Amino acid sequence: MSGGQNRMPGAPAPSGAAKAAGRDAGTVAPVITIDGPTASGKGTVAHRVATALGFGVLDSGALYRLTALAVLQCGVDPTDVVALEQVARTLQVVFHPNGVTLAGAEASDLIRQEHVGNLASRLAPNPGVRAALLERQRAFRRPPGLVADGRDMGTIVFPDAPLKIFLVADVRARAERRCKQLIEKGISANLDDLLRDMRERDARDMGRAVAPLVAAKDAHVVDSSNLTIDQTVQAILDLWSPARLDGG
Ligand code: C5P
Repeated sequence: MSGGQNRMPGAPAPSGAAKAAGRDAGTVAPVITIDGPTASGKGTVAHRVATALGFGVLDSGALYRLTALAVLQCGVDPTDVVALEQVARTLQVVFHPNGVTLAGAEASDLIRQEHVGNLASRLAPNPGVRAALLERQRAFRRPPGLVADGRDMGTIVFPDAPLKIFLVADVRARAERRCKQLIEKGISANLDDLLRDMRERDARDMGRAVAPLVAAKDAHVVDSSNLTIDQTVQAILDLWSPARLDGG
């Protein structure tokens, strides 16, 4: 793959103009956006909703994490804004059914490390990085539809999405979930450290000037603190049928 674009195996390439608009020619593929803070369950819920509807998935956080990983691997100075934008623009990314590769090397586990996520959240306020990743994200919009998860999916990337979800959960519930996930993967984790990192990351994501984490005006807020994954998925599917009739 070249030119710094994403590739999804088997997906047809849209035409230039259609690609610029984030759509395939003649079709406006529907998008369900799921935004929310870190570890709110967005990723799992997005995959489950997409499977139920036969839609594709965009894990936009993975692109920010891949940028962070590339910065670490190339030894780029994280304060050099020109170099950061260049890294984001030229990322060689291939999403495959079990994860993602960066420049041909498996990166699925590497990008899930806490220090990579923290660096991603420190790079994410950079307007050049965000601009570099914008069209990449819109290129995932293909028939029959897309479920996109992140921080600014409903506000910036897909403002015309017919269904927008803002998925929240209490910070302690999120830290406990993340702790459990890490321990299940055999990675050591400390709840207090995770709570502190998560609060700092929330503050950075919500407080930044560019594309802050905020619910779109027309988003449905879903609080998953006391919901199982199945219940959260069902709540979104219940919202999808009327949203589709209204404009999807
Ligand atoms: O969602 P995830 O935790 O994988 O994202 C990693 C970081 O990437 C977030 O903390 C956030 O700063 C950034 N991000 C973003 N916009 C998105 C998705 C992720 O700024 N749409």
